[in-house]
Amino acid sequence: MNAQASTPTVFDVQRIRADFPLLTRTMHAQPLVYFDNANTSQKPTAVIEAVASHYREHNANVARAVHQLGDEATAAYELARDKLAAFIHASSRDEVILTSGTTHAINLVAYSYALPRLAPGDSILTTVMEHHANIVPWQLVAARSGATVKAAPIDQRGVLDVDAYVGMLTPEVKLACVTHASNVLGTVNPVQELARACRRRGIPLLVDGSQAVPHRPVDVQALGCDFYALTGHKMFGPTGTGALWARREHLEAMPPFFGGGDMIREVRFSGTTFADVPHKFEAGTPNIAGFVGLAAAIDYLHGLDLAAAHAWEQELLAYATGRLAELPGVRIFGAAPDKVPVLSFLLEGAQATDLATLLDLQGVAVRSGHHCAHPLMQFFGVPATLRASFAFYNTRGEVDAFVAALCKVRKLLA
Ligand code: ALA
Repeated sequence: MNAQASTPTVFDVQRIRADFPLLTRTMHAQPLVYFDNANTSQKPTAVIEAVASHYREHNANVARAVHQLGDEATAAYELARDKLAAFIHASSRDEVILTSGTTHAINLVAYSYALPRLAPGDSILTTVMEHHANIVPWQLVAARSGATVKAAPIDQRGVLDVDAYVGMLTPEVKLACVTHASNVLGTVNPVQELARACRRRGIPLLVDGSQAVPHRPVDVQALGCDFYALTGHKMFGPTGTGALWARREHLEAMPPFFGGGDMIREVRFSGTTFADVPHKFEAGTPNIAGFVGLAAAIDYLHGLDLAAAHAWEQELLAYATGRLAELPGVRIFGAAPDKVPVLSFLLEGAQATDLATLLDLQGVAVRSGHHCAHPLMQFFGVPATLRASFAFYNTRGEVDAFVAALCKVRKLLA
């Protein structure tokens, strides 16, 4: 092996930052420190340009026109499906339904898969650490069908009690759900293990992948789940994009959720027949430009050394956790052994939202609040936390600026 080949990859974060124009902004006369990546990530120039160039040069509706522009738009939109299918290692592009995001994807499963199968006495299993998108759709369909929603517990570190989860996979459970990674705690759940337990009992497993896809390779076949929902805007693509991956047998058996154009084979007042999957689930004009942008985001990610990018995020998480832990009166939420780069915390004597507002005035963007996870806040007995969430374009210098700003604003509130 030559010396060059054995040199460990160094992640050149400054070069990467140059790809993200928004990161050069100032905020309240300070350099912007953007630590709200779990909420939405920033977009590289390649994505911004792909969306602009679609509208400039290729804009037309998909699957409806016989003209050249229509063909170009359709090809670009369908290419996004191919790229997404490859990105998550789906065995077929037909198993990828393009949606407006994770919430849309989960609601599709709730109304099209779960609701027709639920009867009084049945239940859906989720966990205490879920985002509302992986709780409320289940409550809505449970209320309509007489089923119930039950939640598997976690411990004080924010780690799922896997034995309890598996123990709750009783015969009345018609669907099990879990987040791949928690948006508040960062906890990465053992999806493969849960999927094996579900499969042994014949219970399908839905995984909310929103917070996992930006931070680790995802292989839906290796995970062994039945449904995987993801969102594009957290993985450097445009807002209003996402997908549901599902096993073909489920998609074939599911009735359409939205009706309208593009999802039919033939419409008669005596009865309508539907298009094949995936188009059966894609009524109406989709977010064509958004998916062109998402395809560009996937290309962008493939152009990086993703293993090095993910390792850099872990380094930032460890560094930021260590720096925060040095502060007196800090309480960190989420100490799982495997985490995505999300750091939730509170400072004694200060309200999360006050701190976040003052941090913003120092140029630091973090999220504060319940993070759409009320049951998790109830578990920890707090109304809100502050959350710093990182992407591979963040730096240790930004972590230092964030900690310095936190110390400064804390004094203002004392
Ligand atoms: N947007 C949600 C968050 O910030 C998922 O965690």
